[in-house]
Amino acid sequence: LEKLTHPLVWPSELDPPEQLFAATAAKYSQPQEVSYWTQQQGLTEIEQWLVNGPMATRGRVLDVGCGAGREAIALAQLGYTVVGIDVSWGMVEAATRNAAARGLAIEFFTLAAHEVTRSLGEFDYVITTDSLYLYIPTRALRIQTLQALRRVLKPQGALFLSAPWMPIYRAGLRASLVDTIRRLRRRLPGPALLTEPGDQLVAFVSPVSDPSVKAFRHVFARREDIEEELHAAQLVGEPIADRLWTLRVDHA
Ligand SMILES: C[S@@+](CC[C@H](N)C(=O)[O-])C[C@H]1O[C@@H](n2cnc3c(N)ncnc32)[C@H](O)[C@@H]1O
Repeated sequence: LEKLTHPLVWPSELDPPEQLFAATAAKYSQPQEVSYWTQQQGLTEIEQWLVNGPMATRGRVLDVGCGAGREAIALAQLGYTVVGIDVSWGMVEAATRNAAARGLAIEFFTLAAHEVTRSLGEFDYVITTDSLYLYIPTRALRIQTLQALRRVLKPQGALFLSAPWMPIYRAGLRASLVDTIRRLRRRLPGPALLTEPGDQLVAFVSPVSDPSVKAFRHVFARREDIEEELHAAQLVGEPIADRLWTLRVDHA
């Protein structure tokens, strides 16, 4: 019904990134989200593959978008030293509580990914789960985020970035139409903060989401568009299953 009444909703103007982050933080801090993500336990299949493969040597892990601590707790139990960050204060509170209940010494901080600095130390591995990259508004801020994460990697460290692309998105008539309007709109003078092709607001980030609170999401239609941002941040690597990229600093 919303799509019918607002066929081209939100095509051109974008709230400032800090407001978009505040909305994401508020959405994920809602009690039902915290409780849903607290119920998720253990490593996913791909994370299991990581700990048996590229992360086999135990070391320091930065868990970006740690939520209620699911993977941070599982990794700490396997012998990694874990620091978790999340933009949602509600999630960080829950993660701290959930780790303490298991007697685990994990440090959690309320921080957005682009705010990461070396004050957290250096890491053998930086991981982001569950499409985190898509929740960062603007190409500029996504590249800034990658650069911030790159700077906390040890020289031989690896960044595992969850950044899927969805070729099907190109075929969506409504989405393509909105993106065409955006491309045209960006050529005209006007507000500096314009949405970029692929930007969306999403109501559901879990089955229990409150649809009245929306979060920003950017949809990539093409793998090349992600690669271009990685390249701009001097990172190189390949996507593995689930479009989780294994990235290293480009020393070239
Ligand atoms: C879908 S949840 C996944 C939580 C946890 N990693 C898990 O798999 O159970 C995504 C988390 O990323 C956080 N998040 C989204 N954008 C972020 C950003 N730019 N910086 C840090 N955290 C972010 C959200 O607050 C949320 O807790």
